[in-house]
Amino acid sequence: MGPIIAIDGTAGSGKSTLAKSLGKILGLHVLDTGAMYRAAALKVLSVMGEERPETLTKVPDDESWSLQVAEIVKESVIVIEDRVSLDGQDVTKEIRTDRVDRFVSFVASIPAVREDLVSRQRQWIAIHNGGVVEGRDIGTVVCPNADLKVYLTASIEARAERRAAERATGERAELESMIDRRDALDMNRSTGALPSLELVASAESNGRDDIIVIDSTEYNASDVLSRVLTRLETIGIHPPSRQMRYSTDEI
Ligand code: DC
Repeated sequence: MGPIIAIDGTAGSGKSTLAKSLGKILGLHVLDTGAMYRAAALKVLSVMGEERPETLTKVPDDESWSLQVAEIVKESVIVIEDRVSLDGQDVTKEIRTDRVDRFVSFVASIPAVREDLVSRQRQWIAIHNGGVVEGRDIGTVVCPNADLKVYLTASIEARAERRAAERATGERAELESMIDRRDALDMNRSTGALPSLELVASAESNGRDDIIVIDSTEYNASDVLSRVLTRLETIGIHPPSRQMRYSTDEI
């Protein structure tokens, strides 16, 4: 098995940018597991559309709702490459809408959905001989043996600003409250929760060189990348020789 680099962190903390850059430099495939959960949520929205699930404020107590959602997800064919496809349709754009943003954390909080998608993610890693995998539970559940586990975060203001720039729309206060709500759901669910910053930081400060915590509020993408590459060098993971003299500006 080739190297596995896990990148976990809060919404909008720069995980995707870092994952893509690392994939390019190290010649590894990249898996955005958030895109998988988003495609699964989109499928549920399309099947249960008339019930307007995106207006939910919490997962219904009724267990049959969660079972129905898990069944819908199980039957979906999700392919994550440069584009994201769901049941053969390109949904790269549709998975990044406010409607999906509002609903995806509910789908991601259902244990049977997580079990299904975690198993697909592990298969992807085996088929691709490792890779750069980003999400919320990669270093804790999907690949606890990853060579390096990166934990990224940033202030809520910085993350809302990045998301607003990405979408070229969005009232700042509304974006902040949506991100805040998703963080709370991601950190407090019963399975596959994003670990708290304090927990991961204390593991790193206990001398674990396979864990690196970065608060990117004050850093740009290329600073974050340099710090991760430096740590990778320390643990013996180097870019292939022809790319040894890379420039972060070229990425
Ligand atoms: O990274 P993102 O914002 O695209 O993720 C979309 C949602 O999926 C987010 O609410 C958290 C959830 N998610 C998850 O629960 N586990 C993962 N491994 C990846 C994403």
